[in-house]
Amino acid sequence: MKLGTAQYTRVAKAFLTRRVPVYAHFGITHRCNLTCKMCGIWRYGNRKEELDLDQIDQMAQRMARLGVVQLSIGGGEPFSCDYLEDAAERFVNAGLNVRVLTNGVGVPAERIEKCVKVGVRNFSISLDSLYRERFDYICEKEGSWDDAVRSMSLISRLLAETKGGQHGLPSINCVVSNLNLEELPDIVRFAKAIGFHVSFLPVELLADPKDGVRNWEARFVRYRPEMAVDTNADTVNPRIDKAYDTLIQMKKEGWPILNSTPYLNASRNYLKTGLFPSEGCDAGRLYFSVAPNGQFTICHRTEQQHLHFLDPKFEEYFHSAAYERSRLMEAGSCEGCMRACWIDTSYMFRTMEGFFETAKMAGLPRKRVGVTWPEARAWAKTDDSSKYAVAK
Ligand SMILES: C[S@@+](CC[C@H](N)C(=O)[O-])C[C@H]1O[C@@H](n2cnc3c(N)ncnc32)[C@H](O)[C@@H]1O
Ligand code: SF4
Ligand code: SF4
Repeated sequence: MKLGTAQYTRVAKAFLTRRVPVYAHFGITHRCNLTCKMCGIWRYGNRKEELDLDQIDQMAQRMARLGVVQLSIGGGEPFSCDYLEDAAERFVNAGLNVRVLTNGVGVPAERIEKCVKVGVRNFSISLDSLYRERFDYICEKEGSWDDAVRSMSLISRLLAETKGGQHGLPSINCVVSNLNLEELPDIVRFAKAIGFHVSFLPVELLADPKDGVRNWEARFVRYRPEMAVDTNADTVNPRIDKAYDTLIQMKKEGWPILNSTPYLNASRNYLKTGLFPSEGCDAGRLYFSVAPNGQFTICHRTEQQHLHFLDPKFEEYFHSAAYERSRLMEAGSCEGCMRACWIDTSYMFRTMEGFFETAKMAGLPRKRVGVTWPEARAWAKTDDSSKYAVAK
């Protein structure tokens, strides 16, 4: 991504003080066209609660004033919102680097083209397996692999043809689970071949189906034992170590892995023990989240109600001691999470290793490769065991 002087200044200030919200997430909608096994967000989709474009414009101006450099528009599935492209344009015009987090499934080419036309240079597309059947099984929809990879190949070509495309950082979001532990290095090789980076996040699942009802924070994840890494340490730990040793080595060698090394080590530990990193996190000061209805939260899943993001007094509130106290209590009492967008941002700004790895990766323009759909499709693997049949 290309940063101007003002943005570099904000990033430097964030590194020194950890008090500039350089990263924000806006879940433009909770609606989704898929029902992925591990995710429960789509159950909360409600078009009526979503903001309109004028409100989104106000949000963009406010984020710019607060110091946001990088905005991810996610959801739910952001393309479920008809005016995603116009919303993205408002944020680009406010001077933010915009990333669209999408499943890429069923998205018409014209909509992706329009995003690029209005200035989006960063896309993250979810892909958890090179085996078509396995990925369709996770997404619970046949044809998902083909659609997601077709969208990736289109993005690779558009960025290769578009001015400023060399500053884009398109990426694959890959959820690490029992279903793909052995595939991670091949997913990195695939990403490189299509000119993408890849970000790995370990799957979070409910240990008990009732947790999602009892615990507000847990409502976005689901009980899916088939995705959980097996609990027998003797058999699973060597699998996890092999996967993460290889990823860390590949990162050292310059393969396009977005996660910082400290995050990859924390992910390894989480998959083995279920324990979240103990260093705490910077939710609410290095980053924050805004829900489809405009409600501000310090991250994706805390419940504490703060002022609405569009409240006229919001900026004053954000800089107040009362907000800082409440934010500290909230983040301090949270049991933790492994969401890369939050926890890895903390690592990037708290550890020298994370900061320099990220600075090197983010600042460099890249020679873009444009791949065709048949070239990308050639990476597909086949596993037609009935285990991965999509339920009709
Ligand atoms: C919630 S989705 C929203 C954007 C878009 N719908 C997509 O799937 O890319 C953002 C990312 O969260 C991941 N995710 C969903 N549920 C998860 C879980 N239980 N544990 C870890 N990651 C999860 C998805 O795979 C996706 O990469
Ligand atoms: S992970 Fe993304 S695509 Fe899948 S159900 Fe959740 S929001 Fe939808
Ligand atoms: S650790 Fe807790 S407060 Fe921090 S980002 Fe994760 S869920 Fe939010």
